[in-house]
This record gives sequence, C-alpha cells and structure tokens, in this order.
Amino acid sequence: MAISRATIEQITLSSDLIGLVGEYVSLKKKGANWEACCPFHEEKSPSFKVNPAKGIYKCFGCGKGGDAISFVMDIESMSYVEALRFLAKKYNIAIEESASDFKEDQARQTEKESLQIVMNFAQEYFHRNLHEHPDGIAIGLSYFKERGLRTDIIESFGLGYALDQWDGLMQEAAKKQYSLELLEKAGLILINEETHKTYDRFRGRVTFPIYNVSGRVIAFGARMLGSDKNQPKYINSPESLLYDKSSALYGLYQARNAIRQADMCYLTEGYMDVIAMHQSGIAQTVASSGTSLTEGQIKLIGRFTQNLTLLYDGDKAGIKASLRGIDLIVAAGLNVRAVVLPDGHDPDSYAKAFGSEELDKYLKSHTQDFIAFKAGLAAEESAADPIKRAESIDSIVETISLVPDVIKRSVFVAEAARLFKMSEEALTESLNSRIYERLRKPKPRVPSSDEPPVLPPLDEMDHPYTLAFEQQKISPLMELEQGLIRSLILFGHKPIEDDYLIAHYILEQVSELELKTDVLQKLRSEYADRLDFGDDMSPDFFLHHPEELIKRMVIDLCAEFYQLSPNWENKYKIFIPTEEDLLSTALYANILRLKKQHVLEEIKELELILENPSEEVDDMEILKEWKEKKEVEMAISKELGSVMN
Ligand code: UTP
Ligand code: MN
Repeated sequence: MAISRATIEQITLSSDLIGLVGEYVSLKKKGANWEACCPFHEEKSPSFKVNPAKGIYKCFGCGKGGDAISFVMDIESMSYVEALRFLAKKYNIAIEESASDFKEDQARQTEKESLQIVMNFAQEYFHRNLHEHPDGIAIGLSYFKERGLRTDIIESFGLGYALDQWDGLMQEAAKKQYSLELLEKAGLILINEETHKTYDRFRGRVTFPIYNVSGRVIAFGARMLGSDKNQPKYINSPESLLYDKSSALYGLYQARNAIRQADMCYLTEGYMDVIAMHQSGIAQTVASSGTSLTEGQIKLIGRFTQNLTLLYDGDKAGIKASLRGIDLIVAAGLNVRAVVLPDGHDPDSYAKAFGSEELDKYLKSHTQDFIAFKAGLAAEESAADPIKRAESIDSIVETISLVPDVIKRSVFVAEAARLFKMSEEALTESLNSRIYERLRKPKPRVPSSDEPPVLPPLDEMDHPYTLAFEQQKISPLMELEQGLIRSLILFGHKPIEDDYLIAHYILEQVSELELKTDVLQKLRSEYADRLDFGDDMSPDFFLHHPEELIKRMVIDLCAEFYQLSPNWENKYKIFIPTEEDLLSTALYANILRLKKQHVLEEIKELELILENPSEEVDDMEILKEWKEKKEVEMAISKELGSVMN
C-alpha cells in the first residue's frame, strides 16, 4: 500500500520544520534562517541550517540535507513510509492509502519512454528509406522533388517514406527486438482482430513526422502517392501516451523561433501548407493537421505569441473552419486575424503559381481582423437581405462577447458599429445582455485534467536511508551537470521574454546531451515533461519532490542558493547567473563547458578502445570517430574562448 499523493502533500505542508528540528537540537535564529550544531555529526560550531520559508535543512559540515520527511528518516532511522506515518500522527493527518497509484504512474512513465524509443526508431527508419532504399529514392524522394521541396526542408521536417510492404517496419523492428505490443501501442502496426495477423500501418506512403515542442517525434502523418479514391489521402497515427491530438501542432517545433521573432503565427490546415510556407520563408506557420482547432492547441501557441492569423483555403469548408477557429481563439484571449487565399488556392499552390514573395505580399495585404473578416463575409452573402444582415451582426456580437478583456471589447464594438453603420449603443446593449446571460448560467465544471505523473517514493524496505551521491566523489562532469540542473530548477520558470522561459533556452541548448548522472538526467526529463504539459515546475515543487532521492539531490543543489551558507560562490566555482547576464555569458559558457566535458569523456572512451585492440572493432572507424570528436572539442573550445573574452 502506498500513501496517496494528496496525503504526502498535506504532510509536507503541515510540517513545522523549526518546531520539529527544535525537538532534537537547540536552534538559534540567524537572519532569515535558523542554525544549530548538527545532530548528524560531531561539531563545535553550528553548520546545520534550517530555512523555514522553504521548509528545508542542510548541514554544510556533513552534507546531510532534506525536508521534514527526510529529517525524520535521518534522525529516527526510519523508512520513507515510516516517516510519513510518524509525521501524520504528529500533525493529526488522516492517511489516505492508494493501492497502486505510484506503481501505475511509474509504469506509465516507463511506457512513455519505451514508446519514445520506438517512435525515434520509426522516424529514423522512414527517413533512411528516403535516402538509402532504392524504392524510397525512386518513389518517395522523387515525389517530394516533383512537388518542388528543397533538400533542407525535407531534412528539417524529417520527411520519410514507408515502403510498400506489409512488414517493412516490422522486420526492421524485429532486428531491434521491439515487441509487437509496443509497436501496436505506438500506432505503428495494426493487428487484425480475427486472424491476429500483424501488419505495418503506413505502407507505400510518404511520411510526415509530428514533433512535440521539444523536438521529439510523437506521431506520423502519411500521404498516399497515387490518387486511389478508395483510400484516405492521409493516414495519421492514433493517439497514444505520447500523442494527444488536441495539444499537438504540426510544424511548431520548426516554427517556434520564427513565431517568437515575428511575434505572430499563421495557422493553416495541413502538412503541405506548413511546409510550403516554411519553404517560402514564412516559417511562423503551424497546422492543426487532421483535427479541428482545439483550446489546447491555442494555449500552446499562446506560449509563443498572442497574435494568430488563420490561413485557410477560400472554399466553403475553409471559411467555416475559420469561423469556428475565430471564436475559440477570441475566447482564449488571443488576437485573431484571418486571411483567405483567392480562387481555391492553398499556400502551396499559390507559392508555386506566383512565387514566395508574392505569397508573402498577398498575406500581408489581405489579412483582416476578425470583425472586418466576418463583416466582409456578411456583406458578400447578405447584401440585400435584412434578416441575413441581422444574423451576421448577431454573430459578430457573439464573437466579441467572448473576448475576455473589457477594453478590447469596446474597441471591437466601435469597429463593428462603423462597418455596419450602426450605433455603438445598440451594439453594446446587445453585447451586455449576452455577457449577462452567460454569467447568470452556472458554469459547467471543467473536469480537472489528469494529475501530473508522480514519481514513486522509495521502496518501503529502504531503511535506513542512504544516498548514492552522498558517498560518490564528484567528477568535473557531474559538477557541470549539477550546475546545469541547478540553473534549470532555480531559474527555469522565469521568462526571458514573454513566454520564452529560461528553461526553454536551457533545454534547447542541451537537447542532444544525455546527462551521465542518472538522477540529474531524470530530473531533466521530468522538467521537460512538466514544461510540455504546463505542470508546476517551481523550485518549491522540486524542493519537495515526491521522490526522496530526487528531493535530496535538489535540496543539495539549491540549499546554498537560499542563503543557507555564506560561501556559495567560493565553494562552487560554477557561476550562478542573474537574469540580466544570463543569456549573454554565464549560462551559455556553462553549457559549452558541459558539452566540452561530454566530448572529452567520449574521446577518452575511444582512446581506451584504441589502446586495447580487439578483433571485433574496426580501428579505422574508431580513429575516424576520434578525429571527429576532436574537431568538435576544438570547435567548442574556440567558442568558449570567444564567449569568455
Ligand atoms: P488537404 O487535402 O488540403 O491536404 O488536407 P494537404 O496537406 O494540402 O496536402 P496536398 O497538398 O493535397 O498534398 C488538409 C489536411 O487535412 C488532413 C491532413 O492533416 C491534411 O494535411 N487530412 C486530409 C487527413 O488527416 N486525412 C485525409 O484523408 C485528408
Ligand atoms: Mn490543402
């Protein structure tokens, strides 16, 4: 039986660390902190510090640190669960047991990681086909070339080809010993329910990987090549633990920097629209691909810009989709504009017909705010019909009523009044009665989204508690990795500008790097997931992380920052960046040092192999790799030199 997450949280919140510690040692107040002689080792002058605001303690003599739960574990030699029961009793908290929550969460986490591995594999496989398999080259690659795609675009979108075989992917997966069950869960293969035969989902199609914001492949779209009326043009991955359709956007990973720079984003319908726009140099473009726009997708865009322009085909379906999109976006508080291409063109065909520059010009000169857009549509279809005209006005007022901001609402009302040659008063009255009606209605309760995944606490049998990293000697590499994670936890949640957080910057910089220290690697991926899902990633969350090992590591890293010790900068040579100089030098330099250290370790490994010749390895290959790594090392060193000067 595990103790529920809610109970653990309550115990953490209710624990009075000063009172608790005070029962074992005599604490004295010193500034914002309290100090005492450490109960865990012999000492004459106090180096044991408690920070009541953060609920953490740390001894700068022996290194022991933690929160209330850890303190009880250490001082009473209790297991994690015993300590929880001890504190619950002390503070009169009823314990809620949840049989297998933690195990389930853990299983979920593991399954996600496995799914990610097979998705990466599938992506590499499809993409490799395009360049290396004769069919891939003759069919897939030439299809893309025929449609005029440039090589750099094919690469940056990771396009690929699924061979026209029943088991092309399955065979390749078998070599890696991926289970059929996993492939099926990832949506890569299908199982016939009657015959139990298995076969590839994507066959004889070009593939479009869908990336999440952090650049991991979470799904595929696959387009057929011929024009078989009996088949859908596109087949898409089903949803999975990795792929939630309603919060994925095609192209966002490739578009995100351009969106920030342009401070706007075009939203199109499909894969090819996005690609055509990027190829035309209008890279601030994404698509809702395969679903109609959702609130989750809008929120996601809102992290990068508040300005969204709908770019749909000028046909009926496109306009209908635009109208639906407008209300959703307005309600989310973003600024929405719309632009429609002429004569049934989509971005791809327009750019082909008139060129990239004309496309850009057209978009810039034909973009309208939503009121003008809706009014224009109304004017077209209801010129002479007063009833239609009234309906149009109603629909615009309805949209305006969804705008959360009062001031913006009044600006829109003024514009609508002007366009329809009506009095502002009349429109405002209609607007207010709508808002009033809506406020009167009881709000439907929004079902709370799934609780964030929780890491399991230590096994109940773990008793007494010792930390692997407490004994471990700290290598330069580990120290640099610690510095990175420390910056992530302490500063990651702060914005550099608007919705671009320091965490985005850090994680982008080290996206290729696998941290060698397990706890740190785990922390990083958890942080990235929390960032992706918009979950709590404040320092406070990590300081009281439900997994004891992680919590202790975090406290170890951050305690000194919370001024538990005066010699922070001296002890750790790693610079703690302030927000101002963060991007300019310190953090960047730390990241470069870390990358360099990683390369150095890899070089060392290669040298070890070279020094111990064996039949199995091809020395020339290793030597080649060694040379490449050396070059990387030199490049980083050079960059470091220029950063430091
Ligand atoms: P389109 O038919 O406009 O496709 O569908 P497209 O992306 O412009 O591709 P090309 O230019 O014809 O090659 C728009 C989007 O609707 C979804 C896809 O996301 C597609 O990009 N769609 C369309 C499907 O999911 N399945 C389908 O069968 C068709
Ligand atoms: Mn299209």
